Amino acid sequence: MNDQPVLRASAVHKRYEGGPQTVEVLAGIELELQRRRTLAVVGASGSGKSTLLHLLGGLEHADSGRIEVCGSAWSDLSPAAQGTWRNRHVGFVYQFHHLLPEFSALDNVAMPLRIRRMASEAARREAAAMLEQVGLGARCAHRPGELSGGERQRVALARALVTRPALLLADEPTGNLDADNAERMFALLLQVVADQHGALVLVTHDQQLAQRCDTCLLLAKGRLQPGDAQDLPRR
Ligand SMILES: Nc1ncnc2c1ncn2[C@@H]1O[C@H](COP(=O)(O)OP(=O)(O)OP(=O)(O)O)[C@@H](O)[C@H]1O
Ligand SMILES: [Mg+2]
Repeated sequence: MNDQPVLRASAVHKRYEGGPQTVEVLAGIELELQRRRTLAVVGASGSGKSTLLHLLGGLEHADSGRIEVCGSAWSDLSPAAQGTWRNRHVGFVYQFHHLLPEFSALDNVAMPLRIRRMASEAARREAAAMLEQVGLGARCAHRPGELSGGERQRVALARALVTRPALLLADEPTGNLDADNAERMFALLLQVVADQHGALVLVTHDQQLAQRCDTCLLLAKGRLQPGDAQDLPRR
């Protein structure tokens, strides 16, 4: 059971119809990620990186192909079972943080634990400890609107990590951070991967971070190809 890949994707296709033209975003994605492995996905803006992560995390559906996380395919699960499976196995850091604006940082981070029916006090304790780890121990009571962009990003990271998921999907998690905080967040991601024997898919425009992952693949023309972070289009 333990040598089963955390993530397996085969023949994944996705196109967006409507509007003036059809966009074929993913055209045959093949991917396998074992435990303790880290993968960077790089590529030009609009190449489909966020779309790919959404599909891998079961947040959007592929047109065809199969995506398995910890042995179960999204397409084999009911919508309710998908939600449970995602909460149990996946931590998702969105490109745009998607924090709940009415809730404090603490309650945002505690939310995935509350969804697991963890008691409120325990969930808030875990959330506070995770916020401490991302350097926001002093911001627990702030709502997202009262935080800086980088602070919001760190709250979103804490929310993804608080359940200690086997699969971490992180979409530009360091995009708004200064070099020191980016380093700290990357180290935290690696630590959770190591502690959980999990796996990380990191979408990034940061060449140095991409190079520090075990593998770096370039998404271009709808496919993942061996990539060199040096090939990255510079922003
Ligand atoms: N809901 C949608 N409907 C139609 N087209 C979409 C939709 N979502 C994304 N696209 C198109 O799919 C392509 C890939 O978008 P995606 O957000 O995955 O790119 P990306 O690689 O993450 O880009 P960036 O680096 O700018 O974040 C884009 O051309 C975009 O316009
Ligand atoms: Mg994107």
